[in-house]
Amino acid sequence: MTQTQDSEVTALRAAVEAARAAPSIHNTQPWRWRISDGRTLDLYADRSRQLEVEDPDGRLLTESCGAALHHARLALTAAGWRIDVRRLPDQNQPDLLATITVTGRGESDEHARVLLDAASRRRTDRRPITDRPVDQAALDAIVAAVTAEDTRLYLLRRDQVVELAAAMAAAERTEVTEEAHRDEIARWVGGERRDATGIPAGAVPRHAPQTQVPGRYFGPPGTLPVDEGHDLAAVYGILHGDSDTPLAWVRAGEALSAGWLTATARDLSLLPISAVVEVVAARMALRRLLSGLGYPYLAVRIGYPDPDAPAPPATPRLTADQIIES
Ligand SMILES: Cc1cc2nc3c(=O)[nH]c(=O)nc-3n(C[C@H](O)[C@H](O)[C@H](O)COP(=O)(O)O)c2cc1C
Repeated sequence: MTQTQDSEVTALRAAVEAARAAPSIHNTQPWRWRISDGRTLDLYADRSRQLEVEDPDGRLLTESCGAALHHARLALTAAGWRIDVRRLPDQNQPDLLATITVTGRGESDEHARVLLDAASRRRTDRRPITDRPVDQAALDAIVAAVTAEDTRLYLLRRDQVVELAAAMAAAERTEVTEEAHRDEIARWVGGERRDATGIPAGAVPRHAPQTQVPGRYFGPPGTLPVDEGHDLAAVYGILHGDSDTPLAWVRAGEALSAGWLTATARDLSLLPISAVVEVVAARMALRRLLSGLGYPYLAVRIGYPDPDAPAPPATPRLTADQIIES
């Protein structure tokens, strides 16, 4: 290997390290990476960590991998590498979701540096938010970040939030009554998570917070303290786009990451709400909310968390060695 390739491999490894922080459905971290030919990073879906009951189509798995792809892109462009990204590059290998090839050196991207810094602070915060109205400029920035990833974010009017709440309640009823679903949740949520995947009890609220849209079923209560606040100042939205294909889901995951990190950089919390796309009837209700203008990928809640409350604990991650294939 030449000296140049050596530094590219180091950069690609650093990109995988950064991508470990990405959010994923139930912290399944359903990704594997391979560094090939000294300058290319391949991202594969790891089906062994797919939620078979909740996510049989792999929509949320693919979105999670898209979020990791966006983190890896940020790490490389922040470090001044020029890159070429191909998504779903080989139709004979559907689990090869993307390849990132380093094509040369350029300027360090200041915007990427800001978002990468936010990635180390970003957490999923399921608690209520404060009454501070969400800044219009911040909302515009989040919408623009999502749009730049070929995805759209539709912000709901107050009367539409009621419809989202109804869709969520119906989705939860469907999922909770299914024993296989409850078993799957029990495998991924709660406890100490000794294998570095899943959501530890410390990140799950101690009791159901007051919210306009009900939270998802996570099994027994966790240990995260919850105050008496509400989320009446929250803005709810739906990530959506023109098709419901794996390519669109990869892009939606990149858009989720871009929007979420933009929110974090502006002291806002963004909470994904996925049960409404997991259950077919609820997904259809979301399509109607979008007036048939697109396919929903995820709902989100945006609001200001209490600046004086400590952040929820960091969730565990697999090591780089566990997710890089040789
Ligand atoms: C595609 C996707 C869907 C998610 N859906 C939900 C959800 O419905 N409810 C929730 O509380 N968290 C949801 N999350 C957040 C994950 O649980 C969270 O990212 C993971 O546990 C890791 O924790 P962290 O985000 O604090 O690093 C989702 C994340 C992703 C990427």
